[in-house]
Amino acid sequence: MPPYIYQILHVTGIIMLFMGYGALLARSLANSDNAAVRKLGSITSGIGLLLILIAGFAMISKLGHSFTEPWLIVKMVIWLALGGVIVLINRKPALAKPLWWSILGLGILAAAMVYFVRFQG
Ligand code: HEM
Repeated sequence: MPPYIYQILHVTGIIMLFMGYGALLARSLANSDNAAVRKLGSITSGIGLLLILIAGFAMISKLGHSFTEPWLIVKMVIWLALGGVIVLINRKPALAKPLWWSILGLGILAAAMVYFVRFQG
């Protein structure tokens, strides 16, 4: 498959992850225990995380990157952090607001690794 397919899948995964987490956090902020929103948010963010990972690793080989490039290691750490934060989202609704901004910050950092480090460096 051409690399642009993986780029589209990578970005689709990012959109899904942030939509899903946004829904889960908004649910906490609204003090709601709506099960349908929880299900939709969990499924969307879970598939998104998987797509980011699969398409990210496909791009590493398709575009000829090395797994040990620092900007990629940072992105993998960010991916782990974004995956792990679901525990806090589900168990600590009181942290919803700081998590909202921290998750956004992690996304900006991951994008900066691409456009600031990989393409400028
Ligand atoms: C396991 C984790 C990840 C890996 C292995 C990975 C890998 C990659 C690779 C190889 C590229 C292509 C760079 C190029 O064109 O040469 C890329 C692009 C990109 N990544 Fe990631 N990434 C990961 C996680 C993330 C996360 C968590 C985000 C944001 C939340 C993100 C945002 C982006 C963006 C915005 C682009 C540029 C669009 C594109 O070319 O697809 N990445 N990533």
